[in-house]
Amino acid sequence: APLNSRINDPFQLSRPDVHDISATIGKDLLGTDHPVLNSAARYFFSSEDGKGKGKQIRPVMVMLLSRALIFHNNEMEVSSSARLAHILKSQRRLAEITEMIHTASLFHDDVIDEADTRRGQPAAHHVFGNKMAILAGDYLLARASISLARLRNVDVVECMSTVIEHLVRGEVLQIKDSRTGVTDMEGYLRKNFYKTASLMANSCKSAALLRGNVTPAVVDAAYCYGKHIGVAFQLIDDALDFEGSAASLGKPALADLNAGLSTAPVLFAAESLGHQLIPAMARKFKEPGDVELALRCIHEADGVNRTKKLATIHAEKAMDAVMGALEPSPFRDSLVHLACRVVDRSS
Ligand code: FPP
Ligand code: MG
Ligand code: MG
Repeated sequence: APLNSRINDPFQLSRPDVHDISATIGKDLLGTDHPVLNSAARYFFSSEDGKGKGKQIRPVMVMLLSRALIFHNNEMEVSSSARLAHILKSQRRLAEITEMIHTASLFHDDVIDEADTRRGQPAAHHVFGNKMAILAGDYLLARASISLARLRNVDVVECMSTVIEHLVRGEVLQIKDSRTGVTDMEGYLRKNFYKTASLMANSCKSAALLRGNVTPAVVDAAYCYGKHIGVAFQLIDDALDFEGSAASLGKPALADLNAGLSTAPVLFAAESLGHQLIPAMARKFKEPGDVELALRCIHEADGVNRTKKLATIHAEKAMDAVMGALEPSPFRDSLVHLACRVVDRSS
């Protein structure tokens, strides 16, 4: 099917499962007796106009995969429809947990990055102050942990706890890079795994674990799908940081370069033009002309397109993983479709 077709559109197909996830999280959090935590919860999870919700790509992935796994019915299994409904309910909890962990990390990230906006509104720390933004992130993480424990599945608890460790590790690696200005492609991809891909990989794996009665190959395929989608997602993010700025003349966007970070387009350029680029990378593009030099080198080495090509390779690996291991279903096809959307997006 053509990539832009509406058939098996991942966002349409997951809408019944995902559309009120924000409202559910919001309701859960609004039970607190602290007014600031209440407003912080409302800020991201229960605004009337749908602002602050984000793309919800993680819940979409978890629910599409969960639906696809219903088609894995072996004869040994007593899979009454009541049992399947019970499993789906736990997978929906998992989808909420992924969104809570993700949002908690964004509360903290925007403090660290001193970001002004998030999801089309002022960043939380601008509204509530740094202290409350940090505590709101911690609170969200705590609520996610309680919800996780209630799934009564220690393997899933281990997976999702590992994600939290990885998020922190990725952030620390990034701060280290931005201090020294030095990275190589391998270190960059490792950091991307910790920052972005681990949450997607482990939440997909957890969805398969909650399904139960599936082969280890299916669990691995779920992990593999999430991991490669995550790596592709972050590569495209890093490519868009350059394209947005090239298009919008006069705006000093280029957030990564300005933060002293060398992402994939720079690293590709450094492979052939390192003699020019590496000194500028090491001083984090701080001297006059450094940013222009980097842009020239990226242009000459076709760094942005090579980044997109690498993202496409990862998206294809994600598709292969589900095509190779999942039973045919519209949900499986929409997971393939989602992998295309991740590399085709422009925002
Ligand atoms: C966004 O990246 C940030 C992350 C993917 C993870 C941030 C993780 C932490 C702050 C560690 C703490 C974690 C928890 C769970 C509380 P970005 O800044 O590159 O992208 P952006 O443009 O969306 O801000
Ligand atoms: Mg940030
Ligand atoms: Mg950041």
